[in-house]
Amino acid sequence: MNRILTHFYNEATDHLFQVLLQQYQDTNRFHHDFEDEFFTIIKKNEYSFLIVEFESPYSEKIIEFWQSSQPARQLIICTQPENYKRAQRVYKSDSLIHYHNLEQSLEDFQLLVEKKLSSVKDLNKKTEYCKVPLEFFKPESELFCDVYIKLGDSKFVKVIQRFSRFENNDLLKFREKDIKHFYVKDKDFKIITKKLATIMNSGSHAEGALIALNDQVDVSIPLALQQTVAESINKLGLNEDALEITSVAISSSLEMIQKSDDLGGLIQNALKNVSYISEHSFITSFVASAILKELGEDNIANLQAISIAAFFHDLALESDEEAKVQSLESRKFFIFGIEEQNLIQAHPLKAKSMLAKVAGLPKEALQIVEQHHERYDGGGFPYGLSHTEIAPLSTVFLVAHEFTHLSYNSGFSPVHIEAILEDMITKYKKGYFKVVTKALAAIVQLGDDDNEIAQVS
Ligand SMILES: [Fe+2]
Ligand SMILES: [Fe+2]
Repeated sequence: MNRILTHFYNEATDHLFQVLLQQYQDTNRFHHDFEDEFFTIIKKNEYSFLIVEFESPYSEKIIEFWQSSQPARQLIICTQPENYKRAQRVYKSDSLIHYHNLEQSLEDFQLLVEKKLSSVKDLNKKTEYCKVPLEFFKPESELFCDVYIKLGDSKFVKVIQRFSRFENNDLLKFREKDIKHFYVKDKDFKIITKKLATIMNSGSHAEGALIALNDQVDVSIPLALQQTVAESINKLGLNEDALEITSVAISSSLEMIQKSDDLGGLIQNALKNVSYISEHSFITSFVASAILKELGEDNIANLQAISIAAFFHDLALESDEEAKVQSLESRKFFIFGIEEQNLIQAHPLKAKSMLAKVAGLPKEALQIVEQHHERYDGGGFPYGLSHTEIAPLSTVFLVAHEFTHLSYNSGFSPVHIEAILEDMITKYKKGYFKVVTKALAAIVQLGDDDNEIAQVS
């Protein structure tokens, strides 16, 4: 049962929303005239979702009827702007009642519908296990959920029982076995993301809760947050909590970038060799932001777009090994099976369409995500754009990403960095790629004989 029923009184609005809702083909049924039949339909319990226009003379009766029927189901009340507040006073808000001001964009409405539809779908889907970084488990506290470790593709073993105490020794034991993540069931994962969002929002730290956040100033927490958001979006779809965490993680990494003149220090902090996807995402955002600074293009809009893109560009991929593939001609690509190869080929567009559903993300960030495997010589994917066609911000991202990717395995050692830069300078002889690579070379100054790898000038 996942069908939508609508009741619009105003014909023009009804027509508009019918067109919009047509995309949910199997789930729709429209009914814009008031008849007894309408109540017969509601009674049948075939609809999980009602959208009703507040200004309809029948709205009160319909809403009352809908709310009194069992099981409780989703309701969106659309109102004219002048009635928006009044409607909220009359019907209040809870997890099942939502309001849409008809003055707002159709995109906002669509987003609301999709969010509600996915929450209905959630009720029917099988349990997923979601990855949570070890950093978020607070030792010497009682865990509110069962905790698992992953043994195989779909094999999970419970290692900590719900409501038992998580001792420091347990943490050490798992760390010794090189376990970096626990897994929890999706319903518990939702609680974790909610807690994280609340903690991040209030700026306070966890109290007796699952999550241990201390006063670290390094990037561990934003890194762990990045992994958690990516997991949340992949497994549970987009939700408010994930977005809340995203915005905090991105602003804290932006703050780090703006406060620090020590690019090398930031990179070394993020370099833990635990998760390539998260770490190279962070380091790319640091390097790209430093390039923007060098170019004098470091306005907040550019910094934000490039950090968001760095945060999410490999979101649609499932493993670090997939994220390491940079070219569809490389050996790394051919070792994958056909399904994974298809995913790798599609991941820039898949990530873009996942992000397109998030209201308020800058379109420049989406463009970078879409273009993040294009190449200077036109040999990239998905479009095969060449350097004259790739957007300027995407160019900064591509240069920063390539430098990060190539330097990652060597731990950003000075010798490797020098060779990598030389190659890039030789390769990128024209246009904005040349300008950006020069800016990268200017900010990356090798230390004398220590391991200091880079400093922002
Ligand atoms: Fe990628
Ligand atoms: Fe990447």
